[in-house]
Amino acid sequence: MQLRCFDPTCATKLDLHAPALACPICGGLLEVDMDGPAFDASVLKELWSERRRSRDPRDISGVWRYREALPDYPANEIVTLGEGNTPLVRGHKTASWAGVSDLQFKHLGWNPTGCFKDLGMTVGMTEAVHIGAKVVACASTGNTAASLAAYAARAGLIGRVYLPAGQVSLNKLAQALDFGAEVVEVEGSFDDALNTLLEKTGEGIYFLNSINPFRIEGQKTTMYELLDQLNWKSPDYLVVPGGNLGNSAAFGKAFDELLRYGFIAKAPRMIVVQAAGANPFAQLWRDGADELSPVEEPETIATAIRIGNPRSWKKSLRGVRNTAGQVLDVTDDEIAEAKAVIGHDGIGCEPASAATLAGLRKLRASNQIPEDARVVAILTGHALKDTNFIIQAHQREEAHAH
Ligand code: F0G
Repeated sequence: MQLRCFDPTCATKLDLHAPALACPICGGLLEVDMDGPAFDASVLKELWSERRRSRDPRDISGVWRYREALPDYPANEIVTLGEGNTPLVRGHKTASWAGVSDLQFKHLGWNPTGCFKDLGMTVGMTEAVHIGAKVVACASTGNTAASLAAYAARAGLIGRVYLPAGQVSLNKLAQALDFGAEVVEVEGSFDDALNTLLEKTGEGIYFLNSINPFRIEGQKTTMYELLDQLNWKSPDYLVVPGGNLGNSAAFGKAFDELLRYGFIAKAPRMIVVQAAGANPFAQLWRDGADELSPVEEPETIATAIRIGNPRSWKKSLRGVRNTAGQVLDVTDDEIAEAKAVIGHDGIGCEPASAATLAGLRKLRASNQIPEDARVVAILTGHALKDTNFIIQAHQREEAHAH
């Protein structure tokens, strides 16, 4: 395995563990390039099933169980909290609200810190340990910060998180503090916090934002686990919320590999849903544009995806195009309503996650997907990630009723 510039016209190759954040030639995003198929899909499917009976911490992790598809590390370097292993939960009220008959949620909020970020962080932090990093840092709308803080604590590294001041759910801030991270508040949006962090290159800091290709590798295993759960038969549609677009980028990479190496015959159509106030990717899709125009002042109640300049849009776009998917946006009211329905289905999630259900309903209402389509929606964060949102929504409801 090695690192490769994502831009196909450049495709510069680097050593797998080169401490580069971007392509040294063109500045493009980097990705981990898997070597050719050194393995047989049917043998690996069997091996990965077998590992569910094992007590090896790597086999218990729903990420490292699939380690043949990941960079190789000595077992003692792996930083794991037993992430992954999240269930598929069937939607009932949610399915009828959206107007589909076959809806399942893959709830990534049921991870150690309550969010999908753990799936990438376990690999990113392991890489940090492998190269001897001492300080790890990220900019975040809250969840990456909580996850980095936990895994840094486990690894014995200093964790530093850059947050947009006053715009992060207190539950997430509390987690970062609880896990002992250094918190730096930056005036402005997530994009400003990320720019502030990126100026710190050369200060011996290892960056763990989703431009880090090792995080993408870990997040990619979400689709390995999902397809494993579905006995390697893809649903018709996969719906995922989009912020910085790292997760959809990771899923796109997973489908590419799973198809190339013969694990699946067909990938699901990937639908990326953004919030209307933070929708540069949905705009790009609607306009058929070739370049992303950032949203200067992103605004949405779903603070996790309040991002105007998503870094991984090119990778995500490749995944959407390769799977004949699409990108759309939904309003804050639609997100709030969808979130309440997910709660009333006994599942619960944070606001950003509910964008998936809102997007699904919107696509059904305009007949862009059939009623009997088999749909998997990704829920990215736990309901307890933003309790203030829930309390306020209920206070508003009560005030309305009186
Ligand atoms: N859902 C939740 C709950 C998130 O926290 C995020 C991103 C997303 C969706 C969007 O994922 O960026 O990969 O498209 N949260 C980041 C953070 C930005 O800092 O925690 P994406």
